[in-house]
Amino acid sequence: MNQNSVELEMESLDGLIILITGANAGIGRALTLDLAHRGATCLMLGRNVTGLEALYDEIMAAGDPEPAIIPFDLSQPNPERIVELVSAINDQYGHLDGLIHNAAILGERVPFQQYKLSTWSEVFRVNFDAPVALTQALLPLLQRPKASSLLFVSSSVGKAPRAYWGAYANSKYALEGFAALLSDELANTTNIRISVVNPGATRTNMRKAAYPAENPASVKAPDALLPLMRHLIAPSSSAPRGYRFDSNGNFEPLVAE
Ligand SMILES: NC(=O)c1ccc[n+]([C@@H]2O[C@H](COP(=O)([O-])OP(=O)(O)OC[C@H]3O[C@@H](n4cnc5c(N)ncnc54)[C@H](OP(=O)(O)O)[C@@H]3O)[C@@H](O)[C@H]2O)c1
Repeated sequence: MNQNSVELEMESLDGLIILITGANAGIGRALTLDLAHRGATCLMLGRNVTGLEALYDEIMAAGDPEPAIIPFDLSQPNPERIVELVSAINDQYGHLDGLIHNAAILGERVPFQQYKLSTWSEVFRVNFDAPVALTQALLPLLQRPKASSLLFVSSSVGKAPRAYWGAYANSKYALEGFAALLSDELANTTNIRISVVNPGATRTNMRKAAYPAENPASVKAPDALLPLMRHLIAPSSSAPRGYRFDSNGNFEPLVAE
């Protein structure tokens, strides 16, 4: 494994158009506020419209660029809705500088033999099928700027699935495989930087659901991830293309060298 440490710099996000899924809560919310505060127009995709409206108000009150709300249930990534979405972004902005696949669900934490297959399918739809379909549809818009970024939020169990993590682990494992495939395929033909990030233990609703007995104060807040995530998103940053990053800054290539 090739492990390196990231050197972070201050990147400008002025005028960038960035779509982030699962913007209303947890890591996605903290990231959206941060990107907006640094000048990006955030296209906030999520199913919880009330939460997205509250975030919209917060961004506007801070005097940051007006975001857009995209109501979308990723468990139903139907092709017509995706075509509609791409056409709306194309009409309004004409391109995309960044796409962050952050939304995910945990599913069940039980032995595989007891895992409900309906939950298994739903986890795959949200964590894998929807990001794949959205990526395919949005690639043309990501190819328009001179440089853009595509960030997949994964997990430690996405690199090495572990017992009792069920569909969550396997969907993230598939997502990392997809990121590797795409990175290899697009390395020489586009200026899209593809990265995977593993946030590590972070104080959110998902972490609480996975570890109900844990003291939330014992894990880092989402804000701790912002410098690294910004580094991976800003087209102007020096982050290498085609790498998987851990929250401690270590990184390794997505495609085996
Ligand atoms: N927190 C950690 O310790 C940790 C560790 C490793 C990896 N991660 C990864 O980090 C990312 C963010 O997780 P988080 O901890 O911030 O979790 P979170 O607080 O549960 O937030 C998840 C986000 O995904 C959205 N979402 C879920 N299902 C959706 C659907 N069907 N359609 C649209 N949006 C949907 C949620 O919206 P609703 O509010 O509507 O549910 C929410 O905005 C995930 O990819 C997760 O796997 C987190």
